[in-house]
Amino acid sequence: MSLKKRHTITAALPYANGPIHIGHLAGAYIPADIYARYLRLLKKDIIFICGSDEHGAAIPIRAKKEGLSPKKIIDKYHFEIKKTFEDFGISFDNYSRTSSKIHHETASIFFKNLNEKELFVEKTTDQLFDQKEKQFLADRFVTGSCPKCGHEEAFGDQCEKCGSTLNATDLINPKSILSGNKPVLKSTKHWFLPLNDYVSFLKKWFIYDNEKVWKSNVFGQVKSWIDDGLKPRAITRDLDWGIPVPHEDAQGKVLYVWFDAPIGYISSTIEWARKNNKDWEPYWQDLDTELIHFIGKDNIVFHCIIFPCILHASEKYILPKNVPANEFLNLEGRKISTSKNWAIWLNDYMKYFPDMQDSLRYVLTTNAPENKDNDFTWKDFQAKNNNELVAILGNYINRVAVLTQKYFQGVTPKLSNMDKNDEDIISKAYLYPKKVSDSIENFKFREAVNTMMDLARMGNKYLADSEPWKLIKTSNKEKVETIINISIQICSILSVVSEPFLPSASKKLRNQFNVQNIYWKDFSKEKPLIPVKIEKSELIFRKIEDDEIDFQLKKLNDSEK
Ligand code: 2FM
Ligand code: ZN
Repeated sequence: MSLKKRHTITAALPYANGPIHIGHLAGAYIPADIYARYLRLLKKDIIFICGSDEHGAAIPIRAKKEGLSPKKIIDKYHFEIKKTFEDFGISFDNYSRTSSKIHHETASIFFKNLNEKELFVEKTTDQLFDQKEKQFLADRFVTGSCPKCGHEEAFGDQCEKCGSTLNATDLINPKSILSGNKPVLKSTKHWFLPLNDYVSFLKKWFIYDNEKVWKSNVFGQVKSWIDDGLKPRAITRDLDWGIPVPHEDAQGKVLYVWFDAPIGYISSTIEWARKNNKDWEPYWQDLDTELIHFIGKDNIVFHCIIFPCILHASEKYILPKNVPANEFLNLEGRKISTSKNWAIWLNDYMKYFPDMQDSLRYVLTTNAPENKDNDFTWKDFQAKNNNELVAILGNYINRVAVLTQKYFQGVTPKLSNMDKNDEDIISKAYLYPKKVSDSIENFKFREAVNTMMDLARMGNKYLADSEPWKLIKTSNKEKVETIINISIQICSILSVVSEPFLPSASKKLRNQFNVQNIYWKDFSKEKPLIPVKIEKSELIFRKIEDDEIDFQLKKLNDSEK
């Protein structure tokens, strides 16, 4: 795949209605961060954009539960989530929020522009209404049975069991989540985006031009939506929380959260551009820009159908080049559930494993739900940390550093006569960055991180098989010099190619091996990466004991609601 000149990378805007958990990290933020860090290492012009999603029914519902105002809720969680992302090294260039002035303005401009072009349909229809609470019910305000799969707790916008996107009036036996009452029908006017008018655009762009680009889970879901027939979708709501619809006939109405939230990627870019004295337009309008949305599977339809239709209708905008959505991550064999408190909350993880963010990043990447739902277990977390990060990568680096200090006072020894095996190892080592790149560029992050670890495995085996500690006793100093030189080269390559996956370990390794300013393509077999000297070893990873894991398992089971 050839890369474009400029890259706009977005990660789903999390709702600011609660803390985030490992499922969020695994689904969107770690893959997006790996991709962004990798592109920066290629010296590409990139922006990595995100922010809090602060509208929609989720916020007032949470506010009601906590007895706080919606504004208090978004302030609390926006800053908490932002801090969590920083803790885990998610390297956004800008983290904004949809309650910001710039976002309200940008979303309003999109609405007005499409409205002026008469691309919306205004319709008065019967909608669900809670007579006790005197409120229309859409989206998360109403539950009922899914008309597609029969699941009894489907929401007014989506069934979380079968993934179908719904309208509230599609639900069978609807029930208000505010009062518990059965809603009545009441007429109200709304603005609809006639998705049915965009079928030929979607068929050409999504299917005809790009069928081979999409991951099969993404393609399957979108194709079946298109095949089922697209219907007009309301993009306004009767709610008192959100962006007021900028129209004189729209008193008391706000924009539908799924209309405004993706536009949040653009307003966050504008905010970034203003802060950095740059132009935002090329990142959204120049054909030499590659736009990639990282999301979880429940967001596919919005990023592959609704938002592309909005961008297409708005003209001038580029469309996503890919939407590498992940499936879901389960926890100990069960679906992660916020309401049942069956989750590993990241702020909680930090309390027990401070300075071990890379370990979680690593395990969530090796175990990413890239093609199917996958399971996180505490025991597997411990095994991967102890048997791979500690026993292979950490141990290897440490041995090379210790031997270099012991035999050569930290100065890289020279490379003299190499035998066939040494030649072979060196040639293979320099093939690894390309292998890792290929996997990352194809959004195969599990494969990429495993390849990186294979390089450490290879280095470890080479060192163990060559036994320099025995050779030094037989005065075969030249051979020892060669082995250590080659090992230092492998460690140096590792310190660079590990950066997208293990940013804080990579930083320590780069300092230790004195390869701070080296980019991905600065080295090759012809241009080897041989630092002059290396610093003393410091512990990069630590072993996790059984009692730590037993504690976490007990805690998870005890705190389940
Ligand atoms: O599913 C969610 O958590 C949404 N808040 C994602 C929004 S992504 C984007 F469009 F803003
Ligand atoms: Zn369903």
